[in-house]
Amino acid sequence: MFSPETYLARRNALRKEVKSGLILLPGNTEAAFNYPANPYLFRQDSNFSYFFGLDHPDLVGVIDLDNGVDYIFGNDIDIDDIIWMGPQPSMTKLAESVAVKNTATSGQLAEFLSNAIHKSRQLHFVPFYRGETILLMSHLLGLNPLRIKDYVSMELVKAIVKLRSIKSELEIAEIEKAVDIAYLMFTTGMKMAKAGVKEQEIVGAMEGISIAHGRPVSFPIILSINGQILHNHHHENYLKEGRMLVMDGGTESKLLYASDITRTVPVGGKFNQRQKEIYEIVLKANLNSIAATRPGTFYKDCHTVACETIASGLKELGLMKGDVKEAVVAGAHALFLPHGLGHMLGMDVHDMEGLGQINVGYDEEIQPSTQFGTAYLRMGRRLQPGFVITNEPGIYFIPELIDIWKSENKFPEFINYQKVDEYRDFGGIRIEDDILVTADSCRVLGKPIPKSVAEVEATMGM
Ligand code: GLY
Ligand code: MN
Ligand code: MN
Repeated sequence: MFSPETYLARRNALRKEVKSGLILLPGNTEAAFNYPANPYLFRQDSNFSYFFGLDHPDLVGVIDLDNGVDYIFGNDIDIDDIIWMGPQPSMTKLAESVAVKNTATSGQLAEFLSNAIHKSRQLHFVPFYRGETILLMSHLLGLNPLRIKDYVSMELVKAIVKLRSIKSELEIAEIEKAVDIAYLMFTTGMKMAKAGVKEQEIVGAMEGISIAHGRPVSFPIILSINGQILHNHHHENYLKEGRMLVMDGGTESKLLYASDITRTVPVGGKFNQRQKEIYEIVLKANLNSIAATRPGTFYKDCHTVACETIASGLKELGLMKGDVKEAVVAGAHALFLPHGLGHMLGMDVHDMEGLGQINVGYDEEIQPSTQFGTAYLRMGRRLQPGFVITNEPGIYFIPELIDIWKSENKFPEFINYQKVDEYRDFGGIRIEDDILVTADSCRVLGKPIPKSVAEVEATMGM
């Protein structure tokens, strides 16, 4: 855990952003896998963890803005718990470790909240995403579980987004630890990517490295020789020479900060000419948009840099044609890149997405695009020092999408469908790094993971 003062400082910073009332931050409960006594590995709620730090189930944090007091509600364990789990610190000790002086039992929370409601005090809470939390909070607040989202405090949502968006040195160090573990996951995956190996074997090896370093993967690994399917969790294929293998994964640090990395490699370790040509375009899109990443720039503009690099590269190969800038404004590049350049990264892989993506990636200055492809850009707003974002351009040949666009003769001035047809069996390529926006530019976080053609081939040949 971070120091008690870190959590106190975060709660005090939140106090400055939300005027009055009570802030309710329920932590997560255990979630049943297939029956109650067999839960998934416990994962704390990120907002609770950010402000109250404790990695235990069944706790609720309360920040009383009017009286300057913080509470943690939760129960001390009893002898039955000790028999099964061993001795645990008392609630008072746990609370001390995050600089909270007031504790009360879970049972007392009902009375505490009922008093607050009786006095018409303002109650602030964020959208809940787990059924258990929705039911508990609906019950405690006397609200219909299906309508509780209507009572979310936008004042609190905006305040949390403001604070969590700027990563401290301590948080950046945690993300870098997660990237450094990803280095091991990905270099292992690269070395295993030989013809005849099953995708699932590589997934297992990569997940094993994550677990061996303390935490599970930060999201289910995406790994496929059918990388044109963006989030492909089907891992039953055997690797074949001539295919590109997309590997998209990450881990969590012990304090729950994520990495999110993608590398795409040729099965067998040597790029053929066609693979190399497409790969170099994606790499250039990654590098050009990283070079454009600095404070004050809209991330949407970095996305455009990546799109233009891809359109320009595909034009050189004869798959696209016409004016590159016009093609991107029209959205023609989205046949090959139907998603956004990236998203915020932090305690959540898509950081704070539970608070509403629009509240994280957009603001009064910029609203999401409605254009196919760019509409999936999760982060469009102006960058600030301390933001951590992903940079993940790609080129995909999605036969079903090609067929639809071709049948509609979409953008004939920008797309050479005859040439595109030659790539129908190509698959896809994505390259993803985790980037910190610094005072005047940006830097790629963590130990550099092989990325150039030469680096990838050298690693795979080891
Ligand atoms: N891991 C999914 C993504 O890259 O957003
Ligand atoms: Mn990813
Ligand atoms: Mn990502």
